[in-house]
Amino acid sequence: MMENINPTQTQAWKDLQAHFESQQGTSLAELFKADPQRFSTFSRDFEKQILLDFSKNLITSETFDKLIALAKETKLESAIKAMFDGEKINRTEGRAVLHTALRNRSNTPVMVDGEDVMPKVNAVLEKMRDFCGQIHSGSWTGFTGKAIRSIVNIGIGGSDLGPVMITEALKPYQVENIECFFVSNVDGTHIAETLKKVDPETTLFLVASKTFTTQETMTNAHSARSWFLEHAKDEAFVAKHFAALSTNATAVSEFGIDTNNMFEFWDWVGGRYSSWSAIGMPIALCVGYDNFVELLSGAHSMDNHFAQTKLEDNFPVILGLLGIWYNNFYGAQSVAILPYDQYMHRFAAYFQQGDMESNGKCVDRNGEQVDYETGPIIWGEPGTNGQHAFYQLIHQGTKLIPCDFIAPAQSHNPIGDHHSKLMSNFFAQTEALAFGKSKATVEAEFVAAGKDLTEVADLVPFKAFEGNRPTNSMLVKKITPYTLGALVAMYEHKIFVQGAIWNVFTFDQWGVELGKQLANQILPELQNDSEVSSHDTSTNGLINAFKAWS
Ligand code: F6P
Repeated sequence: MMENINPTQTQAWKDLQAHFESQQGTSLAELFKADPQRFSTFSRDFEKQILLDFSKNLITSETFDKLIALAKETKLESAIKAMFDGEKINRTEGRAVLHTALRNRSNTPVMVDGEDVMPKVNAVLEKMRDFCGQIHSGSWTGFTGKAIRSIVNIGIGGSDLGPVMITEALKPYQVENIECFFVSNVDGTHIAETLKKVDPETTLFLVASKTFTTQETMTNAHSARSWFLEHAKDEAFVAKHFAALSTNATAVSEFGIDTNNMFEFWDWVGGRYSSWSAIGMPIALCVGYDNFVELLSGAHSMDNHFAQTKLEDNFPVILGLLGIWYNNFYGAQSVAILPYDQYMHRFAAYFQQGDMESNGKCVDRNGEQVDYETGPIIWGEPGTNGQHAFYQLIHQGTKLIPCDFIAPAQSHNPIGDHHSKLMSNFFAQTEALAFGKSKATVEAEFVAAGKDLTEVADLVPFKAFEGNRPTNSMLVKKITPYTLGALVAMYEHKIFVQGAIWNVFTFDQWGVELGKQLANQILPELQNDSEVSSHDTSTNGLINAFKAWS
């Protein structure tokens, strides 16, 4: 069961607050000096595949113990159990939260409303396997008898970001002769530019939408269908070129997609947690069904770790608690996710939705306004590009930005010394952020370079680095479908840990509704020539200017 505990009212929170105040002024340099075992104390291994080093955080063993006490006092362990057990923890939507069932490779029963959902999970996986087999073998042909070469996934948010991120991250596993495209934005440019690159005779459109009502996706899907019919000239051919990934069979058949070509999932799968479901079809088609299953297996191993490992050694719990330490005690506003892997270039964007749509809430599970901070702003870009763009602010700015550094030990492209250079930057950055460079060191460097200190004294403050910028380092043996699955599940559960402790509903997203509702009211106003006066003066002014110019 998930209890509704205000975390700030716990003894552990009060202890953390007092501890935070007492340890101000302690530096990471001092902490490392005081404890030669700090790395082994504050690092953990996951199956010899992922090494988590959290020693470069502004914590002591006392901090760590107090954070664990917070998890215990807010009943995190029973919240974890409630999720895995299929309790309806998404109370505002009356739903269980069971993305873990989709990757339950042990196939143990998972009950929702008295029904074991595993048989239907496995049936959809079988259907996906069969479909991938037909597409990859070329036995599924288009309206002129040619094999499918291009997959165009039409979806948005959770029906887009995960498949985009994962197919990009797993590009080294790309199936030959298949090219993948993703269309999400309702801006006509997105579909128009994509359609220029594909051939109607060899293209399969996947219309991916949990609800099958999302404006952007339905608009793009209708445009794709019209474009296809301009070439194919016969509605009967739609069945060969359109498949649906959805929970809504009625809307799928109303759209004109044969429900035999529908891959189903269920309301207990949240959109932003749905890449493991039929929404993962573009992943399976692009990198192969077996690799998709490997992805599920990696995530399943992380699920087992999360469900069974004691809090002190539990990756998602550790990461979640460290995040709370900065978010709620240090007042950090954001978290940067910095993968040193070009293939993972959409990883931070994916977790922008994962985290911000989940924990960007200001009302607690009792329906009360919170008086403490909840979800952080998530952002990031791959290293080393970020170093040449925004790291200046992380090193010397006025804001504390906890960062997650992620890198593979083995590259998929071991060309010359590229990977050593990349990794030297990965190691250097967390070292620089933690330990900085004192004014004395800057002066010593000037002296060593033969400079007269009195002439360069003005420059010293600009060249010094305070340090004490906290980071986690995640060294992954290699980015494979398995380790990527584990990494993604790790972040998903980190988000769960934080939401559980912040006492918010992590799995709903009411905050996206108002904008949609207003856009639906405005749309008809844009489709005639009359002047608009029904809104505030700003909105009226903008709409009328648009109408005059368009
Ligand atoms: O942005 C709101 C949202 O509901 C997301 O939670 C979801 O991932 C996305 O829209 C797409 O929804 P659907 O899969 O139903 O089209």
